[in-house]
Amino acid sequence: MRLVFLGAPGVGKGTQADRLAVQYGAKKISTGDLLREAVRNQTPLGLEAKSYMDQGKLVPDSVVIGLVRDKLADPSYAKGFVLDGFPRTVPQAEALSRVLSERSIALDRVVNFRVSREAIVERLSGRRSCPKCQATFHVEFAPPKHDGACDRCGERLVQRSDDQPEAIETRLKVYEEQTAPLIEYYEQKHLLSHLPAEGSVDEVYRNLTKMLATAQ
Ligand code: AP5
Ligand code: ZN
Repeated sequence: MRLVFLGAPGVGKGTQADRLAVQYGAKKISTGDLLREAVRNQTPLGLEAKSYMDQGKLVPDSVVIGLVRDKLADPSYAKGFVLDGFPRTVPQAEALSRVLSERSIALDRVVNFRVSREAIVERLSGRRSCPKCQATFHVEFAPPKHDGACDRCGERLVQRSDDQPEAIETRLKVYEEQTAPLIEYYEQKHLLSHLPAEGSVDEVYRNLTKMLATAQ
């Protein structure tokens, strides 16, 4: 299973990628998670990425392409993966295509998550994240078992700095301008499937697995 999850910020890509990874053993590769980890560890790459991320802007292509290239060099990742939040620009998609063909592998499907703008804002503003293990919760739709603490590792949950209203606006605009063109890009390659992702986490997961079972 080699998939790309495409869609605006907050549509639920990470949530569904985590579930799929548990059930099918495909590894999640989230460029957002990798970048946040670099920021947390204050690596040179993290220090460079931080100001872009806080503002809701895209980190330069060369940085994220390098991260994904490194992950896919690991055979256990190349075997089965869900790319969450990458590619996000046409040059990133072209670079991915080159990396995959160097390894003689190909994408099975690109899933385009579709959710209304109102639901996106509701999901992002209520999201709480674990800074240690990157697990994601929602104050209303996916609350943690113990108030304010991560179910997986017990760390105190935080609100991501780019989940503030101003950064959310910028991220949605950046998505329209730079990422939405990938819908047509992958449609032309006959790889795209649209996933209506308005329902509950369980409903969306059911639709996703059904879609993957029937898609060629
Ligand atoms: P990234 O971390 O990739 O953020 P994003 O694409 O904006 O996606 P999100 O993580 O916000 O949303 P999601 O779709 O995964 O939703 P989630 O499952 O969490 O990127 C962050 C930044 O890093 C970027 O702005 C950029 O600066 C940089 N970056 C990353 N990749 C890059 C790249 N390739 N190129 C350049 N820069 C890059 O769900 C959201 C919330 O909704 C959660 O609270 C969840 O619990 C809840 N929820 C999920 N599903 C449902 C449901 N069905 N019903 C109700 N609630 C739900
Ligand atoms: Zn945690």
